[in-house]
Amino acid sequence: MIAPHAVQQVKEAARVEEVVGEFVALKRKGPRYLGLCPFHNEKTPSFNVTPNLGIYKCFGCGEAGDSITFLTKHEHLSYVEAIKWLAKRYNIELPEEEQTPEQQLEQSERESIAVVQQWALNWSVEHLWTTDEGKRIALSYFHERGFSDATIKTFQLGYVPEQGNAFATAAIAKGFNADILEKAGWIKRREDGTPWDFFAGRVTFPIQGLSGQPIGFGARTLKSDKKLPKYFNSPESILYNKSRSLYGIFHAKRSIVEQELCYLVEGYTDVISLHQAGITNVVASSGTSLTEEQVRLIKRYAPTVCILYDGDAAGMKASLRGIDLVLKEGLNVKVVTFPEGEDPDSYAKGHSSSEVTEYLNSTAKDFLVFKAELLMAESGNDPVKKAAAIHEIVESVALVPDLVLRSLYLQQCSRLLEVNEQALISEMNKVLRKQFRKKLGGDDIPEERLADRIASPQPTVEDLGTTPQERDLLRMLLMYGHERVMVKFEDEEGNTEEEESSVAELMFELLAMDDILFDEPIFREIYMDYRHTANLGIPVDAAHYVGHEQETWRNTTIDLLSEKHVLSANWKERHKIHVKRESETLKDALEEAVDILKERRVDRMIRERQANLNATDELNMIALMQEIIALTDTKKKLAKKTGRVVVG
Ligand code: CTP
Ligand code: MN
Repeated sequence: MIAPHAVQQVKEAARVEEVVGEFVALKRKGPRYLGLCPFHNEKTPSFNVTPNLGIYKCFGCGEAGDSITFLTKHEHLSYVEAIKWLAKRYNIELPEEEQTPEQQLEQSERESIAVVQQWALNWSVEHLWTTDEGKRIALSYFHERGFSDATIKTFQLGYVPEQGNAFATAAIAKGFNADILEKAGWIKRREDGTPWDFFAGRVTFPIQGLSGQPIGFGARTLKSDKKLPKYFNSPESILYNKSRSLYGIFHAKRSIVEQELCYLVEGYTDVISLHQAGITNVVASSGTSLTEEQVRLIKRYAPTVCILYDGDAAGMKASLRGIDLVLKEGLNVKVVTFPEGEDPDSYAKGHSSSEVTEYLNSTAKDFLVFKAELLMAESGNDPVKKAAAIHEIVESVALVPDLVLRSLYLQQCSRLLEVNEQALISEMNKVLRKQFRKKLGGDDIPEERLADRIASPQPTVEDLGTTPQERDLLRMLLMYGHERVMVKFEDEEGNTEEEESSVAELMFELLAMDDILFDEPIFREIYMDYRHTANLGIPVDAAHYVGHEQETWRNTTIDLLSEKHVLSANWKERHKIHVKRESETLKDALEEAVDILKERRVDRMIRERQANLNATDELNMIALMQEIIALTDTKKKLAKKTGRVVVG
């Protein structure tokens, strides 16, 4: 389709750091750039861009490629669309044939809608500035609202005439397909198929994507008739995903990165007025409640979001829940409220730029403090209401992923709410438990079983330490250390190979793999001495210890070597001493013995964590629980190998 030389030209012009930089906030790190990966959710940046190689790679999720791959993956463009995008970005003219209606039909729907939106944008802007009706009704309306010409131009505001089908007629005459016009949200069709303008008699606010392209529109009526919806908005389309878009992001993103802060407002006009007042790091969620994707989008640019509420208490309260979402994503949340009856737009109009800035800086409150104050003021002296408020606040605090921050919040809330900090901690503990239970497999796990799995010792396993396992291993080392066994391993290409090893070497390796040392001091001494000597290349065997000058070492060795004959079957069963005919299947016996030791150790680690869980250190609870889950997993895997059934 596109001539190869043109593709080449585009590829040469495209700078990966610039292309990626349109969508991801990048910080320079020597010869590379680093940012938060847009392909997976992360808190610490592992997304690398290397300009001299023209590539990006995320060391977290593995996504990698060049500018074109980036656009295809991130913006969901086709290869051809990506080339066109780059050509536009770098002002490279692509040799293009005049399009016939058939070719246009063949174009992807996405591209068609994109073309419609751009054309419609130009059309509406032109009608605002050049037609009588536009100037008289729409432009004067914007001026009345205090928008300067420059602002109106920056935000590409427009107008659609009242007549009812002026746009439809022009667009269809231009050759646009009515289905696409409808999908783009510009026309509707009556039963007989005749089109009418959805935005007729309204001023238009184009919603731009991250790189400035129009993807949808909001259109405000100019009539004061309360029965009419104030805004009509474009429907979702293949191009416009409401929950992923933020109004104003294109104009705001650079400033958001610079200020490390993103202001969030409700409406189109709030964005525009603040922008005009010099506060450019501002976006709107456009009336809907904030979505997870929007929060992630903000997080890609800045660590903090500051939400500007108008002075309506009911609306404020309704949106409190929604903010929890932001906390969960690990974004810092601040809140600014405006005096009753004012919104950011009206406030910006009545005050100078510096006054607005000063107001934002001086009234911004941490969200949790704000929430605590709001709820406490409401509950007054009613103890039941107060308890409910405390619970609600603690639920929010529990969402903060950062443990340190969480504990700071609890301290702060304890002061604000005049509640003992310990009481807050245990309240939060309850919330965390509840959340964790959900993670573990839903609400239907009975409390007792949950306790079994997380917080209490497992009653079916005796806590015997690992002395019997250590004894067993040391005995094997002394008796069979020199025996040769064949060990399978995988080489770099993934082929299985076999290698000869001594039992001693294999044991050292298996234990070292998990940093296991013997607990029992006398066993540890002998084991370490054996390993040290063997590693020095000095021949060592049981006889060395049988005749050792240290009495304890001598006695222990003799005990171990003769033990085999004194063990009762029952004792072996009970302590899970392996009972294979070990001299014949040495390797298996050794591996099994190591696994059993590991299983016991893991068991002990779980117990230690369970004990801490019940002790005071409540803030680390989630971390501990996660470790317990991981360890339980490991334990189950080991138990499967050693053939033991794990309860719980
Ligand atoms: N909104 C909408 N549909 C409506 C009303 C509101 O989509 N019928 C969205 C718009 O994105 C609007 C935002 O909610 O910008 C906030 O609504 P509101 O405060 O009522 O509008 P403003 O933007 O303040 O508009 P204006 O100042 O012109 O009244
Ligand atoms: Mn308003």
